[in-house]
Amino acid sequence: MPYKDLREYLKALEEHHDLLRVKKPIDTYLEVGKVLRKLYSQEGPAVIFENPIGSDVPLVGAVYSTRSKALLAFESDEEHIMDKVLAGMKRPLAPVLKDKGECQENVILDNIDLSRFPIPFYTPKDGGRYLTAAITVSKDPETGVPDIGIYRWQVIGPDRLSFLAQPFHRFGKNLAKAKKLGLPFEAALVIGTDPVLAYTTQFKVPDNTNDWFLAGGLRGEPVELVKCKTVDLEVPATAEVVLELKINYEEEVMEGPFGEYTGYYTPASLKPTARVTAITHRDNPLFLGLLTGKPVNEVHILKQIPFEASFYDFLKPQFPSVKKVAIPPCGGVSFYVVIAIQQRYAGEARQVIMAALSHTIRPKWVVVVDDDINVQDLNDVNWALSFHVRPKDDIFIIDNVPAGPLDPVVRESAQLTKRLLSAVGIDATRPFGEGFPALVEVPGWEDYDLNQLNK
Ligand SMILES: Cc1cc2nc3c(=O)[nH]c(=O)nc-3n(C[C@H](O)[C@H](O)[C@H](O)COP(=O)(O)O)c2cc1C
Repeated sequence: MPYKDLREYLKALEEHHDLLRVKKPIDTYLEVGKVLRKLYSQEGPAVIFENPIGSDVPLVGAVYSTRSKALLAFESDEEHIMDKVLAGMKRPLAPVLKDKGECQENVILDNIDLSRFPIPFYTPKDGGRYLTAAITVSKDPETGVPDIGIYRWQVIGPDRLSFLAQPFHRFGKNLAKAKKLGLPFEAALVIGTDPVLAYTTQFKVPDNTNDWFLAGGLRGEPVELVKCKTVDLEVPATAEVVLELKINYEEEVMEGPFGEYTGYYTPASLKPTARVTAITHRDNPLFLGLLTGKPVNEVHILKQIPFEASFYDFLKPQFPSVKKVAIPPCGGVSFYVVIAIQQRYAGEARQVIMAALSHTIRPKWVVVVDDDINVQDLNDVNWALSFHVRPKDDIFIIDNVPAGPLDPVVRESAQLTKRLLSAVGIDATRPFGEGFPALVEVPGWEDYDLNQLNK
């Protein structure tokens, strides 16, 4: 049974001794960032700050901070997670629209003031307070197909926000389309949900995918939705807090800087604004925070399972030889991709690399290895790089491909749509059909019982 809401998931984390309750008053200015960074570094528990200073709403953090929490969210384990997720992707389930939902137990239409919520100022060089864990709901202004994604939102006034919607993500595409057609554009920020909804935001699916169907498939049960009060969107009925927004794409302000998932700040630049037209929330709501920065943190955990499943699903029809895909956190879960194949013919690894380099996650490094290499173990991958590669023959560089999202080596001043870079393919498979030295083998070592040495 999937979790109904964030509260049920927190209960499960608590049962797994993976939740910390903090009664001490905590400062949302920088202190929350320090605690989260510490917890991430120790692969520690999720946390509920029950008394954030200046707000009577508790702040929850680190709910997506470790692989074990991701497995708990999907109610799976290391052995079954990929099969479970791939099956969920293939089994879309329509959402159910309800008349009433807990997320609208309280409706605020006047005197909107975001400062009643514990919205952290995470690191000293950030441009302001940021919503980092809200699920952004929007619709394609032409087709009406809903999209859910996670985007950073900077608070710029009691009822005003600015945001980063990269032009190659669906929210950015929806925004650009509305602007081009001169249509109004709306969004809803959903804070605190069943964790599978947060992971759903990170699947790479075609733009005409109704993400509520995908979420239903992944949960194994339909998502229950309610209509928003002031915008033409639907949101999960059991969400903790919902901010309904009208976007003003004509009015731009300086948004940023912000510490990003690459581990580097992105500088401030002009971005559109949004006005909060309604706040709805549950009784005794919970709020959600998330710190980004150098891997590994919650951004990377949120992305890894969905990106790997999407990437595998993208390659597999053309290359049944693909056995495993890893998109490790150290590369921000985008820049570095490792693929294991069972080669069928000479040159196949190169074809797989070219297909991988064309994927929308825009990898900078693609390494293909034989399927005896454990792609999740970078030591094993480095062994293949060290001993299976003839650099002159097996490494190639492709020039002028779209640069990866927010890559710090790319000139910041160029518009996001104009950023180009080169990408590297490395064929680290053993030469197909040619002899290769025999692998050192020690038959029987795995079953050897060391205890017998003491007998
Ligand atoms: C915590 C978190 C924060 C993110 N912030 C942003 C952001 O500010 N802007 C952006 O364009 N993408 C951001 N992303 C990436 C998108 O949410 C993600 O790539 C999503 O899959 C977009 O999907 P799409 O390309 O299918 O629309 C963030 C991801 C995570 C996990």
